[in-house]
Amino acid sequence: MSTGSLFANRVRPVLMGMCLPVALFCIGSAQLSADDVQAGKRKAEVACQTCHGTDGVATMAMVPNLSGQREDYTIIQLEAYRSGKRQHSQMSIIAQSLSDQDIRNLAAWYASIPISVTVPSE
Ligand code: HEC
Repeated sequence: MSTGSLFANRVRPVLMGMCLPVALFCIGSAQLSADDVQAGKRKAEVACQTCHGTDGVATMAMVPNLSGQREDYTIIQLEAYRSGKRQHSQMSIIAQSLSDQDIRNLAAWYASIPISVTVPSE
């Protein structure tokens, strides 16, 4: 048996077998994440934008910006408001009405908004 046929008969089928699940996983998660972002955007329009802005840039003092924030950070903060671990007169109440899926969607939406930072020159 030559090296070529060993590759064709043994290695290639194994490699092909590994590629398909990986490809499907990638398509599946990209799809899910795009859906999350759109669902999060819709939820933010009704529940969050009055204070956090349509683009996640806060509309008033003492309200933090959310655009570009890391997804994990936003998830952890919203869960903390919901559980009572983090307390705030408004956010603690708002978070009560959010499901786990809402929290993931909202975090995906705010993380998807690109931000840029310019350090002022001295
Ligand atoms: C009535 C105004 C108001 C609304 C509506 C509101 N927020 Fe907030 N949000 C605030 C304020 C004020 C804070 C700062 C709270 C604090 O100091 O802990 C905050 C803090 C947060 C934080 C923590 C940010 C950080 O940097 O730690 C997150 C995340 C957040 N809000 C998400 C949301 C989401 C998602 C919604 C919609 C479901 C929402 N908020 C709706 C006023 C609001």
